[in-house]
Amino acid sequence: MKPRKITEGVSWCGAIDWDRRLFDALIPLPDGTTYNAYLVEGSDKTALLDTVDPATEEVLFDYLSGVERIDYLVAHHAEQDHAGLIGSVLEKYPEARVLCTPKCKALLIDELHIDAGRADAVEDGAAVPLGGKTLEFIHMPWVHWPDTMVTYLREDRLLFSCDFFGSHLAVNDLYVQDEGRVYEAAKRYYAEIMMPFRKLIQKHLKKLEGHDVAAILPSHGPAHERPEFIVDAYRDWSSDTPKNVAVIPYISMHDSTRRMVDHLVRALTDRGVTVERFNLEDADIGKLAMALVDAATIIVGTPTVLGGTHPKVVYAAYLANALRPKAKFGSVVASHGWASKAVEQVAELVSGLKLDIVPPVLIKGAPRDEDFKALDELADGIAAKHEEAGLL
Ligand code: FEO
Repeated sequence: MKPRKITEGVSWCGAIDWDRRLFDALIPLPDGTTYNAYLVEGSDKTALLDTVDPATEEVLFDYLSGVERIDYLVAHHAEQDHAGLIGSVLEKYPEARVLCTPKCKALLIDELHIDAGRADAVEDGAAVPLGGKTLEFIHMPWVHWPDTMVTYLREDRLLFSCDFFGSHLAVNDLYVQDEGRVYEAAKRYYAEIMMPFRKLIQKHLKKLEGHDVAAILPSHGPAHERPEFIVDAYRDWSSDTPKNVAVIPYISMHDSTRRMVDHLVRALTDRGVTVERFNLEDADIGKLAMALVDAATIIVGTPTVLGGTHPKVVYAAYLANALRPKAKFGSVVASHGWASKAVEQVAELVSGLKLDIVPPVLIKGAPRDEDFKALDELADGIAAKHEEAGLL
């Protein structure tokens, strides 16, 4: 196979992982993914930008079979899906040197056991000429590891953005064809991987304003010929202002919590609040993460098991806390038989979000008329909060 041409001297030599369904044994990949590697050939030197996941090693080396020399192997970030084959590439090309951030160099040595003598750390803004093509390295820590950088190819105005602006989407199109489809996949990717670093993303978006970018080529998913499409989406997702949305992850054992949640959904709907409801029995956790990108309010619905909250609620609440969405308000609706610590437990699990808590509704057994009234009052409280915040 020959590397696929993007423009003169720039080609794609990545791998499409059509069948992968889970990342980090955690993140659902309903549409597979790609590991994008790029070859940049100047008149004097050749650079390979990233490798691919070791599971797809054959594909990369098939693309590289006709490439006689690689001078630089640019490692944007040390995670295995891009850096896992650096050792093999260095073996095949003994003259090649790894270029990466100082932090990435340390990680490559510690975690992937790369020979320290083959790697050079590059400063933020450093430029490396290849002959008619110049690679400029821009440090972008925490999208999503501390080691990350991106590369700007000055002459072609191409931004190789690593995981930043990526999407887990197995397609063989080099460029985005269907923006709606890519928007969904990129938002899922942002929610699961980038959202905890929202504040830094705001800074990085500003930093990139100084570069005239013709196209963005991320490490996963298709490239963006219309950079403003994905940059504007990132501005929206990472902004400090949530939308008029309440997310309700819940689970029910004997239908009491489900009846509470459904009443609350209707009450919030009547008050003009958009609701995203997730039954955690079999919810796609990626979709829950996506809903959290915009949500102003998180309301957790839980029954009580052995005195505490349901384990599947614990998982969802833990994840929401770790993803650090911009939500401002929170509450809990819970049912129990004889005693419960569920409300306190949920509050503790999401304590990192610093939510303004609207008084929870904790009931015994199946909901009665007064419980539905309490749920109406909870809906009143949430709608009032949204109104005060200018969202409704
Ligand atoms: Fe796609 Fe963070 O590696």
